[in-house]
Amino acid sequence: MPHSTDNNSAAQQQPDKKPEVVVHPVPSRLLDSQQCPTPHITSMDEYRRMWKESVEEPEKFFGNLARDILSWDKPFETVKHGSFDNGDVAWFLEGELNACYNAVDRHALKNPDKIAIIHEGDEPSNVRRITYGELYRDVCRMANVLKKLGVRRGDNVAIYMPMIPETLIATLACARIGAIHSIVFAGFSAESLLDRVADCGAHIVITSDEGRRGGRNIATKCIVDTALSRQEAHQVEHVIVYKRTGSEVPMMENRDLWWHEEMANARPICSYEKMSAEDPLFLLYTSGSTGAPKGIVHTTGGYLLGAAATVKYIFDVREDDIYACMADIGWVTGHSYILYGPLTLGATTVLFESTPTYPTPARFWELIDKHKVTQFYTAPTAIRALQRLGDKWVEQNDLSTLRVIGSVGEPINPEAWNWYNEKVGKGRCAVVDTYWQTETGSIIISPLPGCTPTKPGSATLPFFGIKPVLLDPSTGKVIEGPHQSGVLAISQAWPSMARSVYNNHSRFIETYLRPYPGYYFTGDGAMRDEDGYIWIQGRVDDVINVSGHRLSTAEIESALNTHESVAEAAVIGGHDDLTGQCIHAFVSVKPHIKATEGFDKELTLVVRKTIGPFAAPKRVYIVNAHPKTRSGKIMRRILRKIVNGEHDQLGDISTLADQTVVPSIIEAVHGIKQ
Ligand code: WT7
Repeated sequence: MPHSTDNNSAAQQQPDKKPEVVVHPVPSRLLDSQQCPTPHITSMDEYRRMWKESVEEPEKFFGNLARDILSWDKPFETVKHGSFDNGDVAWFLEGELNACYNAVDRHALKNPDKIAIIHEGDEPSNVRRITYGELYRDVCRMANVLKKLGVRRGDNVAIYMPMIPETLIATLACARIGAIHSIVFAGFSAESLLDRVADCGAHIVITSDEGRRGGRNIATKCIVDTALSRQEAHQVEHVIVYKRTGSEVPMMENRDLWWHEEMANARPICSYEKMSAEDPLFLLYTSGSTGAPKGIVHTTGGYLLGAAATVKYIFDVREDDIYACMADIGWVTGHSYILYGPLTLGATTVLFESTPTYPTPARFWELIDKHKVTQFYTAPTAIRALQRLGDKWVEQNDLSTLRVIGSVGEPINPEAWNWYNEKVGKGRCAVVDTYWQTETGSIIISPLPGCTPTKPGSATLPFFGIKPVLLDPSTGKVIEGPHQSGVLAISQAWPSMARSVYNNHSRFIETYLRPYPGYYFTGDGAMRDEDGYIWIQGRVDDVINVSGHRLSTAEIESALNTHESVAEAAVIGGHDDLTGQCIHAFVSVKPHIKATEGFDKELTLVVRKTIGPFAAPKRVYIVNAHPKTRSGKIMRRILRKIVNGEHDQLGDISTLADQTVVPSIIEAVHGIKQ
């Protein structure tokens, strides 16, 4: 089998290498009804009983949960359908519902003045509060605008916007009329945006004149214009532009429309489409080990249930909570944990436009203090960066409203976990290390705040409906015993799992269901300890995780290859104390070309421009040749070991076509002549 578990990014935190694992019980404050609302689940017995039912009788468990958490226009009859073998998983068939109705209407009807969104703008003084009633009316207006422009049920709409309420309004408007939204992270380059717009075939793109982040302007409209100037995006008929900064931007006649002008003429009432549970709700592009990014397809019923159920149980959210997820809406975390999860439960969601350090490293903590945040969710990279900047920034603020603090995106090292727990949670909050993926739709492995004892660095135990297994990568057999690494797979379908890759169902099956027949393959390596706790060890495929951003080595390599002087490029992920992993690129140049001074910077720029700034290699090494097998395959394992300082443990290199390239690569990386 193609996967090896020796290239993980988190090897340094394996408990078998660090035997002093500390177990943290649930903070007593959380279970004291004088101090906190009683968590939804307060004992491990209750969790185990519910988990057992969820995997043994999923029809009963999820049937009840779906009726309880969601509002249906037409009840479902078949709770669970299909199999991994056939690649035809479906949930809540015959059922009809609308995601926007669930996230907005039902709360607006009951409680129109309740705050749905708190927008913490880039400047701390710039705060907007939007009630469910206002959100309802604006979403209806936008839905009418889209309809007027010819958008129909099942059409794709691309959204390339910064972190402003209008982004959520546009997204919900799509859901309302049954259009499939494809949000593209506003940090992506014109080229990456073009790929996504072309693949999904959107006729409408929604953007802003500019974005604003960390005191700087981001040229969103200009990037859209560059992307749409290309033939591949010729199908786009209209671009709707929200005025965020007011800077002068060119508007193309007949194509570009101002958001405010369209909204001013639109009626604030618009009936919603009754969608079938399996109708796609959105596409979200993500990188894999090979080929172009995949448009992951999520459907209405199962996805919405997963998002809402995890917010309820893992963040223990109540209707009067102020829930703050710091992710970007362009990633799945933003979809599930800024938008759909909290709003479906009728909570208040915080939408954060800025960065953790703008204007000072106290920004997160001031935000929690100012808005009385009860749940806070961020990534290990941000935690590590803030930890480095010193405790004084945290200590100046009142964080006593917090009950649950979460981490997501990459393995969290115990040092960062402890700091988060002690300095931010003050030892009085549940720390939830939540493991999941774009494809899983919602969190699949995580502690529950009222019952799970935690171990720093472990995402702990499976959520309801999730049956994880570890598989031996060479035999595909299930690993039963504790303290052995394997590839992490899931052995039965759960409601919020992706259903397909857009326009390419066979790629979906090949990538996730074929590698280990009968299982969903996550792409991650993991270890299970004696308590059944899962320790995620990082990707086993050619995916690199930089600051929680998922990047494919193949994509970065092909960006480098677009440079005319490049003969061949190989990219690997190295360890980085701050960003988890970082990108190292090994590039050889064409014959008769000399790599001049600054060539590495030039190549870095190519990647920034082709993919986006977040994909820039940390180091570019110019090498004469790559270590290759006799059949011409680059042995990335060797590059990885050299970068991670393990060049004295390269293992068997006899399969290399030319072993003499190894010392020259060691020299390029470490400057040591062998
Ligand atoms: C990959 C998925 C879905 C959240 C944002 C990233 C890694 C995610 C954890 C965690 C260890 C984690 C995995 C996974 N990952 N959360 N708590 N512990 N690793 O979504 O871009 O689809 O990336 O992120 O490697 O496969 P994504």
